[in-house]
Formats: sequence, structure tokens, C-alpha cells
Amino acid sequence: MGHHIPWQELEKQARAAARQAYVPYSRFAVGAALLTSDGRIVRGCNVENASYGLTNCAERTAIFSARADGMSEVLAVCIYTPTSAPTPPCGACRQVLNEFGPGMAIRAVCDGTERIDTTLDVLLPGAFGPMNLA
Ligand code: THU
Repeated sequence: MGHHIPWQELEKQARAAARQAYVPYSRFAVGAALLTSDGRIVRGCNVENASYGLTNCAERTAIFSARADGMSEVLAVCIYTPTSAPTPPCGACRQVLNEFGPGMAIRAVCDGTERIDTTLDVLLPGAFGPMNLA
């Protein structure tokens, strides 16, 4: 199963996406790359705001961009952070990711050699999601 996910390409795209990050406040440039169920890769970066609190993380930018381009399901996401150790997605992003792929595979990569390989259901157990409104 997992070997069908093009992790190398997702990682390359996540690293490339971070170069577009708008991070004048934190200087912390994050990139994300999603694999959609129809086989597309969609990128996102963090976009900060002078109000600070309205900052959008790379993962949510990728989800919203993918949806705007017709995505219905996400199979996997790779997240790059400019850190020496890999970083898992924040709580807000976990919830937004859950909407389009509760079982999605998640990889976090960084400037070091370590990485995190997990799934969203592990990071967000007992999630509230679309099923609860059906
Ligand atoms: N950030 C992300 O884009 N994704 C993460 O997974 C962690 C945090 C952003 C938000 C903010 O622009 C900066 O990183 C510092 O928190």
C-alpha cells in the first residue's frame, strides 16, 4: 500500500513549496505537498499576516488550493519544516486535513535526516468530521 505513494516526489515538492512561503514575521518557511486520490500533487506554503493570528499554515494552504482545483480526497501529505528535527502538523491543520482524508499518510521532513512517518488517524484520534453530520 504505502509503496504506491510517490514520497520522493512529494518531498521534493514540499521543499520547493517552502520557497514560496510568506514569512516576514517568523522567518519559518514551511512547505506541504498533497497527493490527491486522482493522482495530482498540490503544494502549499505558510502565508503569514500582520495580524499574526490570521496566518495560514502550509498544510491548510495546500488543502484549500487543492479543493479550489477540484480535489475530493487526499491520500498523503508531506510537510517540510526548516528545522533539524521533523515537525508534525498543528492541531488546526490536523482538523482541516481530516475533512478530506481521515486515514491519510503523513510524512514530515526537515533539514536533518530524521523524518516522521505516521497517519492522520494516529495524530487525531476520535476526530470530529463529516461523518458526524451525516
Ligand atoms: N507552520 C506551518 O505552516 N505548518 C506547521 O506544521 C507548523 C507551523 C507555520 C505557521 C507560522 O507561519 C510559522 O510556521 C511558525 O509557526
